[in-house]
Amino acid sequence: MIKPLLAAIVVAPALAAAAPIGPAIVKLWEQSCASCHGSEGDGDTRLGRAYGVGSFRDEEWQDRHDDAEIRRAIEEGKPTTRMRAFGDQLTADQVDGLVAFIRTFDPSPKRKVIKEPPVPPRQAIPKPLPPIAR
Ligand code: HEC
Repeated sequence: MIKPLLAAIVVAPALAAAAPIGPAIVKLWEQSCASCHGSEGDGDTRLGRAYGVGSFRDEEWQDRHDDAEIRRAIEEGKPTTRMRAFGDQLTADQVDGLVAFIRTFDPSPKRKVIKEPPVPPRQAIPKPLPPIAR
């Protein structure tokens, strides 16, 4: 009785600090989004390719879109594409969870989810040589 209780107390702060991504969100992604966006968010599925789905594993895409935009796309869909509105089927928490989940695809080391070791800093560009004195 005591052990599971302690475990819950120890684990709870870690869960609270992390984005609200639990197994339910992963399952939701797999059931409702992965057919087009891919389990890995790269859009590399049969439907994804057919519908011209882009990749969320793209640092530039992640930089260009803030959470509000991503949330709006999920809730309202993207007109003129096969991305439909999911707003009437999802709770606000589920939408937040999906936004956070999409962020986990970000390959950039500057954001929270680091899946690969950061790239070493680029070598300093050498200064041009001074002009030859005549
Ligand atoms: C039937 C295929 C399909 C399904 C299922 C689908 N999407 Fe999309 N989604 C698209 C297409 C097509 C686009 C528009 C092209 C693009 O932006 O990659 C898009 C765009 C988006 C965008 C905006 C991308 C941008 O650049 O503005 C987000 C965010 C998104 N989808 C999230 C989701 C989530 C979350 C789910 C599951 C709840 C989901 N999609 C389910 C096809 C789909």
